[in-house]
Amino acid sequence: LNNGVARTPPMGWNTWNTFGCNINETLIRQMADAIVNHGLRDLGYKYVVVDDCWFNPDRDAQGNLQAHPQRFPSGMKALGDYLHSRGLLFGIYQGPLDQTCAQYFDSFPGSTGSLGHEYQDARQFAAWGVDYLKYDWCSPTGTINDQVARFGIMRDALAATGRPIVYSINSNSIHEKTGPQRNWSDVANLWRTTEDITNTWDSGQTNGYPMGIQNIVNVNVPLAGYAAPGGFNDPDMLEVGNGGMNDTEMRSHFALWSMMAAPLMMGNDLRSASAATLDILRNQHLIAINQDTLGLQAVQVSHDGTRRVLAKRLANGDVAVALFNQGNSTTTISTTAAAIGKTGSSFTLLNAWTGGTSTTTGTISASVPAHGTVVYRVSGGGTTNPPVPSTFRLRSESAG
Ligand code: GLA
Repeated sequence: LNNGVARTPPMGWNTWNTFGCNINETLIRQMADAIVNHGLRDLGYKYVVVDDCWFNPDRDAQGNLQAHPQRFPSGMKALGDYLHSRGLLFGIYQGPLDQTCAQYFDSFPGSTGSLGHEYQDARQFAAWGVDYLKYDWCSPTGTINDQVARFGIMRDALAATGRPIVYSINSNSIHEKTGPQRNWSDVANLWRTTEDITNTWDSGQTNGYPMGIQNIVNVNVPLAGYAAPGGFNDPDMLEVGNGGMNDTEMRSHFALWSMMAAPLMMGNDLRSASAATLDILRNQHLIAINQDTLGLQAVQVSHDGTRRVLAKRLANGDVAVALFNQGNSTTTISTTAAAIGKTGSSFTLLNAWTGGTSTTTGTISASVPAHGTVVYRVSGGGTTNPPVPSTFRLRSESAG
């Protein structure tokens, strides 16, 4: 979406993965402080997104949304002001129908979706200082045309406020993800591509609920051609630091989200994050790959069912390459500079995990542990357009 924001994938933190509906203003202020104190803000993690359950179950007499009186007694404007005072940005959650997901599925009372209130709510968000809206279709019914229409109304309502607001949509409750994906780049800055992420490596299913990390990768990788500055595939928020995976798997999760130009929305409790978790979240080489200004999502170079190679061309001519082992034992994964779109005869490989460098005349290879991902930033020589499989060539359709 050409609205001036999300020219690279947004980074930040969201309440949902760890706290669900169990949120309040003190928690969010503490998390904002942790983001600043851990140096995460200065690495780019700016959006603090208050997900579902922040609102009073009823609108006021004028039809305005209201903050939940016990959870956010100081109100949403005060929370936005606090986040802005810390150099952060303010995100909020809402839905296009009459109820949000927690209301629909989990019997959170009330009826506060934006249906019929879109312009009023957009003005309200802008007045509160909102910088990011997560807008979540929560009904098992509706057609793709209904979705395009309703998501489009809020896009226009946000634009009418004049405030730059990242627009993040989730169309998944009608299971559009199982069919061909629509190109949502005329509607939103971010669009979810899968069911909700779960804190596991493998959920044993590819389009069901919930989705493990490698199941999401299987769905999201083929959508590479849709990504461009202003519009990115959203394979859901990070589970790094939430304990359901070993360190190798958590590093893969972060590396693959970085390669896929996914929004990097942390979902763990940063107040108690371990050094190992912070090391992953603060990996500057991977963040630089994720935030590269070309805004390309890594394309698949090869995949034999176990060994998967992804390549992401970068603005300075370097190419990032991921060697991802989906198997259950250590294996060697190899590709070549030519296969990832490099020309020339001498290249430097920067290992994104160790920071170490090595040189090669063409072979790019590593021994990769089970579920691990080695990422190299490859420099030297020239860069051609990577030999992208035709199924990935969607980007020309996604101008804007
Ligand atoms: C849906 C979304 C989640 C979260 C919940 C909140 O399931 O996909 O990310 O926002 O709703 O109820």
